[in-house]
Amino acid sequence: MNKLNYYTDGWPLIVEMCPCDVHFTDFLAERGIRNASIFHFGTGTHHHVGITCAENGSNNAVMGITASIEEAEAYTKLAIEKPNVSRSYKAFFGDIYLLDRRLLPEFDVVALFHLCEFWGPESAAYHAMTDRQMLDLLTEKTRPGGHILFYTKSMAFDRAGLVIAQWAKERPVEREGEFKTLLVYRKKK
Ligand SMILES: C[S@@+](CC[C@H](N)C(=O)[O-])C[C@H]1O[C@@H](n2cnc3c(N)ncnc32)[C@H](O)[C@@H]1O
Repeated sequence: MNKLNYYTDGWPLIVEMCPCDVHFTDFLAERGIRNASIFHFGTGTHHHVGITCAENGSNNAVMGITASIEEAEAYTKLAIEKPNVSRSYKAFFGDIYLLDRRLLPEFDVVALFHLCEFWGPESAAYHAMTDRQMLDLLTEKTRPGGHILFYTKSMAFDRAGLVIAQWAKERPVEREGEFKTLLVYRKKK
């Protein structure tokens, strides 16, 4: 039996190396996005997005996914230490390529910064979705007018950029522009 293609480490917040999550919370603040439901791919051990949204008065609710045991454990400890954070911030362990559409609500904002970074032959072995299929699923689960964001400095952006270009031709989305290192699309109303 093939094992899950999981992330074998925890990722700390290193803004100089990977600023996407900080740029994301900057984006939410600068756009005045409040009371929104947010899907976030790749929590990091730091859980910056969920914690910031829970503590900055925005009333944004975040669902984060991580494929790292360390990051999931960090969330468990966080939820125990800070119940007020876990009220609006839920993170769970899983492979994003195994999401089940029946279990997903609609989101106002979807952040897919690590598109194309982690899909591998192991994923194919257990018939996981491809990056494009995962992107289509989360597009379907984005409310009309909602935001879908990517990370232009991703280590896989050469491949992600091609997937995004094809997706943008075939799905009801429009490019809004860039915000710092992020690429911003909106689902058409
Ligand atoms: C390089 S870390 C970046 C974390 C955070 N976004 C940051 O920039 O600080 C990559 C993240 O992707 C997550 N990840 C990797 N493969 C995944 C998968 N198949 N499904 C869900 N999350 C995955 C890891 O658990 C980790 O949180």
